[in-house]
Amino acid sequence: MSSNNIKISCQNLWKIFGPHPEKVISFCTDGLSKENIFQNTGCVVAVSDVSLEVPKGEVFVIMGLSGSGKSTLLRCINRLVEPTQGEVFIDGEPMSGLNEKKLIQVRRKKLGMVFQHFGLLPHRRVIDNVVYGLEVQGIDKAERAEWALKTLDLVGLSGWEDSYPDQLSGGMQQRVGLARALVIEPDILLMDEPFSALDPLIRRQMQDEFIKLHEVLGKTVIFITHDLIEALKLGKHIAVMKDGRIIQIGTPQDIVTKPADDYVTDFVRDVPTGKVLQAGNIVEEPSQLATMDQEPGVVLSTMEAKAVENLFVVDSEHKLKGLVMMADVAEAVHRGETNLNGIIKADPAVTEADRPIEQLIPMAVASDIPIAVVDQQKRLLGVVSRVSLLSHIGTSGVADR
Ligand SMILES: Nc1ncnc2c1ncn2[C@@H]1O[C@H](COP(=O)(O)OP(=O)(O)O)[C@@H](O)[C@H]1O
Ligand SMILES: [Mg+2]
Repeated sequence: MSSNNIKISCQNLWKIFGPHPEKVISFCTDGLSKENIFQNTGCVVAVSDVSLEVPKGEVFVIMGLSGSGKSTLLRCINRLVEPTQGEVFIDGEPMSGLNEKKLIQVRRKKLGMVFQHFGLLPHRRVIDNVVYGLEVQGIDKAERAEWALKTLDLVGLSGWEDSYPDQLSGGMQQRVGLARALVIEPDILLMDEPFSALDPLIRRQMQDEFIKLHEVLGKTVIFITHDLIEALKLGKHIAVMKDGRIIQIGTPQDIVTKPADDYVTDFVRDVPTGKVLQAGNIVEEPSQLATMDQEPGVVLSTMEAKAVENLFVVDSEHKLKGLVMMADVAEAVHRGETNLNGIIKADPAVTEADRPIEQLIPMAVASDIPIAVVDQQKRLLGVVSRVSLLSHIGTSGVADR
């Protein structure tokens, strides 16, 4: 990936709270545990040697148990917390190079923040909460109101502008929180467990709305959560944190199929894999293929040798043409045909590689024939058999494998 595609990057970032924090870094690199260091020095290692890159326009999730350092890491990115060591780059610019004035400008114009407990001002109407970020930028009143109304509309709160926060449900209050972050038209949204305080149903609804909003706005987002399902649903990439360190960075599929250690395994144990795994994650080599120009006699002996009842047929570019059945091949041999043209069935079950496997179940139930997995050019990537599909549906059970 070219570096100008990277919006946010952290390089060997450390945050240690307590006396003489710089001295403590060497204890960590010597392998002492967070707890050990706290007992010996009174220092808390909140962020430990974190490096990560967030591409432009991506939702990047940071996940971990409470106390693992997620909020501190987020606050190091906008320098609400001053890192002990290491560097944060935004658009390739080191954040440490900004003086106080510049830093405030960057925060006000580039970075929108959304918090778990909404952080709304109770005595201000909804609209006055939203315009706050514009007031401090010195934008005039009429323009502020216009932007605020537009943004409230974007988050589905048209008509609520004159209400007070306590007249709104939790989900609506967080929409105000989101509008307040969005109204400054930031490049980056930093979201610290924004949905964690909401009831499960509302939370799911907010996640869905957030996904739609992100498709429209395309902002770069760092989204913190301690909820794996939320992480898997929203994140293009997920970083898993423990004791200040990043244990694993990967796609949702990576995290579920290849958890880096026991900590990540514990997180993914009960994941409904049918939603997370995609056809491409469980695709297998077909035992055998036929090509268009093969003689039926050759194909028939292949089928007998492999003891298969059907074969997928591809052309010279490996594009899927269809499927032949053993009985039809035998008849074609009998009729003395020289190729497969007359007997190819053109409508086998087909899926693209990025389809969640739970959506393959109806296809697998309808037919014994494996499902063909193709790329966008219709080239055959492989097959998904019913057995393989069923063995991957359910909870991941990675620990048992
Ligand atoms: N201002 C602070 N002073 C001292 N310790 C802190 C401070 N802020 C956070 N910590 C400690 O740093 C660690 C990481 O905290 P935090 O970043 O809030 O984790 P998370 O957001 O994952 O729950 C915890 O052990 C916490 O107690
Ligand atoms: Mg936190």
